[in-house]
Amino acid sequence: MPIMSAKMTHTRIAQVSIDAEALRHNLQRVKSFSPDSKVIAVIKANAYGHGVQTAAEALSEADAFALATPNEAISLRQSGVSRPLMVLQGFSSIEELKALADLDIQVVVHHSGQIDLLEQCSDVKLDIWLKVDTGMHRLGLPIEMAESSYQRLQDCESVGQIRVMSHFANADEIGHPMNSEQLLAFSGALGMTGRAEASMANSAALISMPESRMQWVRPGIMLYGSSPLKDKSANELDLQPVMQFESKLLAVQQLKQGDVIGYGSTWRCPEDMKVGVVAAGYADGYPRHAGSGTPVWLNDVLCPLLGRVSMDSICIDLRKAEANINDRVVLWGKELSVDVVAEYANTISYELLCRAGASLS
Ligand SMILES: Cc1ncc(COP(=O)(O)O)c(C=O)c1O
Repeated sequence: MPIMSAKMTHTRIAQVSIDAEALRHNLQRVKSFSPDSKVIAVIKANAYGHGVQTAAEALSEADAFALATPNEAISLRQSGVSRPLMVLQGFSSIEELKALADLDIQVVVHHSGQIDLLEQCSDVKLDIWLKVDTGMHRLGLPIEMAESSYQRLQDCESVGQIRVMSHFANADEIGHPMNSEQLLAFSGALGMTGRAEASMANSAALISMPESRMQWVRPGIMLYGSSPLKDKSANELDLQPVMQFESKLLAVQQLKQGDVIGYGSTWRCPEDMKVGVVAAGYADGYPRHAGSGTPVWLNDVLCPLLGRVSMDSICIDLRKAEANINDRVVLWGKELSVDVVAEYANTISYELLCRAGASLS
C-alpha cells in the first residue's frame, strides 16, 4: 500500500487557499512603515499556517526569515532557501549547534547554558542574536547579565556577528505603559553591548512605535493580513488577507419556531425560519469556541452562526440570505476578516490561522 501524505484539507470540502500576491503587498506595507530597517519575516509554525514554502517564496524580498525551532530552519534551508535564517528558540545541544552552523543558520541565545555550549565548540562559526528580557519574562537573559554575556560571546571562537534583540509583551495596545518601559530597558542593554545591531519591533510595534524599529524589524501577523493592533482594522492599515478559508452549503433546513439546533440544543428558533448547514467544523480548523452570532459570509450576506460548532459542520441563520445547496461560503478571507471571527471565538487570529492551515506546505 502506498503511504499517503497527510494533506487533510484535500480530503475535506472546506478548503484553505493562499494569496501570494497579498503576502507581497503586506511585505511592502512593512517596508513603507519602516523604510530604514531590514525585515526579518517571521514564518515560524508553517508561516502561521500559510505554508512555509509558499511564504518564503512570496516573501523573497525580506532580508531574513525567523523560524521557531532548529528543525523548522534546517528543513527550510534544505529545501533550497538561501536567505539568512534565524532560530528564535535557539539550540539545546552541541549537535544541534553544529547542524545549524553547517547550514549557516543564525541562532538566538537566550540563556547562559547556550553560551557554555558555544564556548565548548571551537570548530564552528555562526552569527547569533543575544536576547535580553526587558519585561516579558518569557525567553531572554536578564538585563543585568547583558554586558557580561555579550563579552563572553565576543570571546567565543564559534561566534561571528553578535546582534541584540528583545520582545514586547503588550505592543498590540498603543500607549500601554510597559511599551516605553521595555524600550528604555532595551536601550540600557544596548548601551552595555557596544551598540550592536538591534531588533525589538514585531508587527504592532513597527507600526505604532517608530522608536522601536532600529536596524531590524520582525513582523509576523501583519504579513498575513491580520491587524496587529487592537483598535485598528487590517483594512485601515491597508493589509490584505492572505488566507481564504471557504466551504459550501451542504443543506438548507426549513425549521419551525421552537426547534433547537445542534449538539446541546443551545439555540432555539424564535420563528419559522431557514437554517443552512455549512461543511466546515473544528476538524477543518474552524474554532469550536465561536459562539452563536459569529458571522459567516454567504452570497454577500453575513449570516450568524447558530448553536455549537460540530466536527464537520456548522449551522447558520439564512433569514437574510438567498441560499441554495452548494453555494460558496466564506469562513474568513477577503469577504470577512479573520480578526472578526477571532473576536467572536474569544481568541486571536494567530491561533485560527495556524490551525486552519495546519496541513499546507
Ligand atoms: C520573538 C518574536 N519576534 C517576532 C514575532 C512576530 O510577532 P507578530 O506576529 O505579532 O508580528 C514573534 C511572534 O510571536 C516572536 O515570538
